[in-house]
Amino acid sequence: MSIIVFASSKGGAGKTTAAVILASEFARQGNSKGMIITLIDADPNQHSAKWALKKGCPQNIKIIENSDEDSIIDDIENANQNSAFVIVDLEGTASMSVASAISKADLVIILCQGSQDDADEAIKTIKLIKRQERLLAREISFSVLFTRTNPAITPRTLTYIINEFKKSDIEIFNCSLIDREAFRAIRSFGGVIENLDSKEVSGKDKAIANVLAFTEEVKFKLLNLNK
Ligand SMILES: Nc1ncnc2c1ncn2[C@@H]1O[C@H](COP(=O)(O)OP(=O)(O)OP(=O)(O)O)[C@@H](O)[C@H]1O
Ligand SMILES: [Mg+2]
Repeated sequence: MSIIVFASSKGGAGKTTAAVILASEFARQGNSKGMIITLIDADPNQHSAKWALKKGCPQNIKIIENSDEDSIIDDIENANQNSAFVIVDLEGTASMSVASAISKADLVIILCQGSQDDADEAIKTIKLIKRQERLLAREISFSVLFTRTNPAITPRTLTYIINEFKKSDIEIFNCSLIDREAFRAIRSFGGVIENLDSKEVSGKDKAIANVLAFTEEVKFKLLNLNK
């Protein structure tokens, strides 16, 4: 029903981590209602598929592995028939798959860490979205999500980047994803943050609160599409 695409031509920007935690939270919230969440892994490195195949992945997350430029549009359309949310994790380059996924998106979330390289790559992704909008003659909603942020301070570089984006009227998430061990841990151990052992992984409750804030903001953006 809603297609959310995680993009950034910068490798390591945080796409897979954000895709996995959003899929997990949607799955938790929708479990009692029988909601299916489809996670499409369109990155040849298959990082989200590796997480989904580990023990502890929620049962109502359906993973589509090895989606590529030939299959991605079919994969998204088929998943959209029976899933409450379709989440697409892309590779960290600009490719045909990336352009195709963006063309099907209700919302593109552009990951950005607080460095100028990340900001420049975010701008490249926005230019690609704008090209797809012209080709398709429709608006494609997008928003920049800052990730791996410091909970205690906002460095001057990040403040500068945020201000530059705001000056250009680029939509930015109010929340960011904080740099937390819990977000790394699920990628290693599999499963969801709620099931991590608080004695082994610090900041679990704060990570859960951060995921909730992110998920609520995504839901708000989806509700307000085209309004
Ligand atoms: N909020 C976070 N807190 C802690 N670590 C994070 C966070 N986000 C990402 N990371 C770590 O940063 C690294 C890169 O993140 P991730 O794999 O999500 O990026 P990516 O954009 O999917 O990369 P690629 O382009 O290579 O697919 C990983 O080691 C991940 O564990
Ligand atoms: Mg990735």
